[in-house]
Amino acid sequence: MNDKELVARHAAQQVKDGMIVGLGTGSTANYFIDELARRRSEEGLQVTAVASSIVSTIKAQELGLPLVALEHLTRLDLYVDGADEVTPDMTLLKGRGYDLVREKLLARASDTFIVLVDRTKQVGRIGEHFPVPVEVMPFAWQLVKKRLEALGGHGDLRRNAAKDGLVATSYGSLVLDMVFNPELDSQALDAALNGTPGVIEHGIFRGLASAVFIAAEGQIQEYWAAPC
Ligand code: A5P
Repeated sequence: MNDKELVARHAAQQVKDGMIVGLGTGSTANYFIDELARRRSEEGLQVTAVASSIVSTIKAQELGLPLVALEHLTRLDLYVDGADEVTPDMTLLKGRGYDLVREKLLARASDTFIVLVDRTKQVGRIGEHFPVPVEVMPFAWQLVKKRLEALGGHGDLRRNAAKDGLVATSYGSLVLDMVFNPELDSQALDAALNGTPGVIEHGIFRGLASAVFIAAEGQIQEYWAAPC
């Protein structure tokens, strides 16, 4: 079993009967969804799921997990998802997928948000390994890009794998993948992106994670944030 599967199975033990659980997106989240479905069929776990993306909706449907639509929820008990980068203060970089808005909504609305990573995702600062995804209104992308360049960023619209088309999110927005000066810390960058007209959402998740579970060579360490 690889580290992603190990940490996902471990996290699935946090799910208790009657919970509403947010399903993340990505390879680690997929292992979590598999384990949740197994616990439901083999252990009779009573759970209702809400998906953070269209792909995780499809996966949950295929596995027979009962799903509720996001628009019917005002809160959820637990949200479990992966991340692309995690700093020591539990700031996350997410958004290699296509549903950033849903991911951040679930992270904010959940009583507990558990982030599952392997050691490769641990970084000293946000942006160390990946550009920051910035989801923009399609008509705003040039003005947003200009504004982010004024903040010292550079980057471009995300292209598809064949590089012959642009990536659009599940809701038809475009994504700017932006690299920023390392001296611009994630708190300042988060505030600047939040305050830029035309930005729908971005991949910096600050103050949202309740816990980060890190898998490394078959061992898991849990880091819980101090309660607010
Ligand atoms: C989805 O938008 C992303 O934030 C993923 O959660 C992130 O890319 C982690 O993916 P893996 O679990 O596949 O590494």
